[in-house]
Amino acid sequence: MHLAVIVLAAGKGTRMKSDLPKVLHRVAGRSLLEWVLAAAAPLDVEETVVVVGHGADTVAAVLPSNAVTVVQEPQLGTGDAARVGLGACSDAIDTVLIIPGDMPLLEADTLAAVVDAHRDKGAAATVLTVKMDDPTGYGRVERRWDQVTAIVEQRDADERQQAIDEVNTSVYAFDAAFLSDALGRLGSDNSQGEYYLTDVIGILSGQSRPVAAVTTEAVEGTGVNSHVQLAAVAEVLRHRTNDELMTSGVSMVDPSRVYIDAGVEVAPGAMIYPGVHLEGATTVGAGAEVGPDVHARDTVIGPGSTVRYSVLDGATIGPDATVGPFTYLRPGADLADRSKAGAFVEIKKSRVGTGSKVPHLSYIGDATIGEDTNIGAATVTVNYDGYDKHPTVIGDRVRIGSDTMLVAPVTVGDDAYTGAGSVITHDVSPGALAIERSHQKEIPGYAERRKHRASEDGK
Ligand code: UD1
Ligand code: CA
Repeated sequence: MHLAVIVLAAGKGTRMKSDLPKVLHRVAGRSLLEWVLAAAAPLDVEETVVVVGHGADTVAAVLPSNAVTVVQEPQLGTGDAARVGLGACSDAIDTVLIIPGDMPLLEADTLAAVVDAHRDKGAAATVLTVKMDDPTGYGRVERRWDQVTAIVEQRDADERQQAIDEVNTSVYAFDAAFLSDALGRLGSDNSQGEYYLTDVIGILSGQSRPVAAVTTEAVEGTGVNSHVQLAAVAEVLRHRTNDELMTSGVSMVDPSRVYIDAGVEVAPGAMIYPGVHLEGATTVGAGAEVGPDVHARDTVIGPGSTVRYSVLDGATIGPDATVGPFTYLRPGADLADRSKAGAFVEIKKSRVGTGSKVPHLSYIGDATIGEDTNIGAATVTVNYDGYDKHPTVIGDRVRIGSDTMLVAPVTVGDDAYTGAGSVITHDVSPGALAIERSHQKEIPGYAERRKHRASEDGK
């Protein structure tokens, strides 16, 4: 069998009220289109064609290299879209799986079941259907026993047909040759003046060809037409991801408030608190505790590390490191094992060595900090002179005093100290104390004299 997947995605998506093509709207870490392609990926697919209308270039840019886009212009209906898609397939294709681009809840097993049933039954077409409590608006599935005889659109359905609760999802497998032939026979004599792909089913049935059906859970048939539906779909995807992770051994205090994107890895034994968002290429190691309230993107949270109330972007943490509360780690922040970044600390493009601590109110940028070093509260690496960024190098077992300004480029040697409040502009030798402060003066009796002067002025 030579299988092609054709994704129908040329519709305007007017109700999204957005310049972005509808299928590029993102949910749980992927665009709608990427969710659909991911569901089809485990199948043995030879060719993937995405039928697009507006924004063809933007859609093409996010597609995997093995997929092609083809433009349908004007959009004359789903039957016309299938014809355009089929035209982009090679002659080697004998089976076609058609999927709408806006159904991100479709599961790989379901698509495989459609293709398997299609093949096992030697069908000319196989329709994926769902039963709905309220089928209004969908195409109704007419059957004779296990054979589908027709799909009737809402607007064209009579009273008896409107009572049918089994509806067409718009996912179908077709024999490529029969599909091509039937598409050539389609007319547009219906209430919308469109070429309906659904009419292909009636044509094939009328030719006494076998048309099978596979039925799945109603939720899988959910299409996204609005931001309201996008959020509803996000909730379903979130529960699927979180259920899977909890089954694998991840703990969650309240999974309804945990937002983990597709592609994020969380190891068994990790603990996730409410208000956690994990995005992009983020990974969480075993025994790590994340949250409450952490937003992490493209960040490695090592095993045994703890991160609370923090924002992490492109950082590497741990193992066994402590971050937060209220820490901001920016790209290139690299916290070694047993290190710490504490309250109101921002770190960018810097290495904090094993066992070293930046506990309070500091900015560390373009710095390399050795092992077992302590950075006093309110320390700043003064890395930017208004033109260029400069590096700060701090050795092992260093004690940086509180409120030290380290004016880069500058190096502080191993075992060195800086005095609190110092502005360090020269390198500090290993083992030395660098202190940069004027001597403290004392003016005795100042308060009394001040009071006296005020009473003379009549204040
Ligand atoms: C279609 C089915 C209906 C089914 C429903 C399920 C038809 C005639 N009807 O109706 O039986 O119950 O889906 O959601 O097929 N598209 C194109 N080019 C076009 C028109 C549509 O690419 O010219 C794409 C859309 O982007 C969308 C898909 O085809 O992804 C379905 O089109 P839509 O207009 O949403 O069809 P429905 O009226 O919902
Ligand atoms: Ca639709």
